[in-house]
Amino acid sequence: MQAIVTWLVNARSWLSPVLFVASAIALLTAWYCKPVPASAIVEGECDCNYIGPLETTIGRRGVGGGTMGAGDGIGIIAPGANSGSVYGIFAKVLRLSEEDFDSLRKAGAPYKVGVHDRTIVTLVGASGRGIAYQDYAERVLRLRNETLAAGLGMLVLASGLFFLRAPPPAPIRKASAADFAAILTIINDAAQAYKGVIPDDRWHEPYMPAEELQREIAAGVAFWVALEEGRIVGVMGIQDKGDVTLVRHAYVASGKQRSGVGTKLLRHLQNLTRKPVLIGTWAAAQWAIDFYVRNGFIVVSHAEKEELLRKYWSIPARQVETSVVLRKAA
Ligand SMILES: CC(C)(COP(=O)(O)OP(=O)(O)OC[C@H]1O[C@@H](n2cnc3c(N)ncnc32)[C@H](O)[C@@H]1OP(=O)(O)O)[C@@H](O)C(=O)NCCC(=O)NCCS
Repeated sequence: MQAIVTWLVNARSWLSPVLFVASAIALLTAWYCKPVPASAIVEGECDCNYIGPLETTIGRRGVGGGTMGAGDGIGIIAPGANSGSVYGIFAKVLRLSEEDFDSLRKAGAPYKVGVHDRTIVTLVGASGRGIAYQDYAERVLRLRNETLAAGLGMLVLASGLFFLRAPPPAPIRKASAADFAAILTIINDAAQAYKGVIPDDRWHEPYMPAEELQREIAAGVAFWVALEEGRIVGVMGIQDKGDVTLVRHAYVASGKQRSGVGTKLLRHLQNLTRKPVLIGTWAAAQWAIDFYVRNGFIVVSHAEKEELLRKYWSIPARQVETSVVLRKAA
């Protein structure tokens, strides 16, 4: 859904005008789409020997007293006085189906043909069945209503797109003591992603008890929070370790992930330090590794990881074993 909205926001500059023009064309077409009066239809009779789709370009010929236009389309071929055959194309508004053709053929010759503006609008066979004026008029009105609905639909869509705005970028600020509960909630909500993925002996619920978060803050992890409409949607910590800076506890609310919040927080934290940045995460959390790699980090070698985790982190040996460390690519 988020991806669709982003696409629409990006495409709105050209999509909205295109839809406005398309809707204007459809509305104008609907406006002019009305049955011609019966008096404007020239009637004639013919002994058609073919009724169906035309497969070739037809020439200019007279049918039933009218003059036919040239073009490919559905039509009739009837014996003609001069050339042996005369051709006609049905008006597009009739939108004839295979069923219609069948019924027209069954109606049998001779046919009464009604022509307007060089196209056939009515055709009634000897049995009295076929497309009489009433049927023609109903088909035109149906087409007009459909075109009108399509035009109005596109107009609504175009107007919606015109007013569509991207949600404002998530502002980022340093967390205060008042944010503690919200940070804890985001961490434990987002950490659900680890359940069944990281080793079972490393999983516990809640993933981050309040006392542990308290200890981390006391140990120097400074949290930053990303807000959307005033609510915290992502958290990330930074910890100074002398010659390096660690990025700790990166979590984005489960409903807000993959919309750029994590990237903004990470970039923000990187700008706060000139020291090399190191990040540790679970080896099994491939999505998190992908997230950091996408942001220019690389996974360090096994030997380097062992050394770095022991030097800069205070985590149990089992966690060292099941983690990876990433650093900024050179
Ligand atoms: C990892 C995390 C912090 C990233 O924040 P985010 O706001 O979701 O990330 P962004 O939107 O800035 O970047 C999205 C990219 O991260 C990666 N990514 C994030 N979540 C992913 C997921 N569930 N599956 C696969 N890739 C994912 C992808 O590379 C993604 O790019 P894509 O959507 O084009 O494929 C967040 O997804 C999260 O809280 N995950 C659960 C907890 C976690 O793993 N924390 C890491 C602790 S070190």
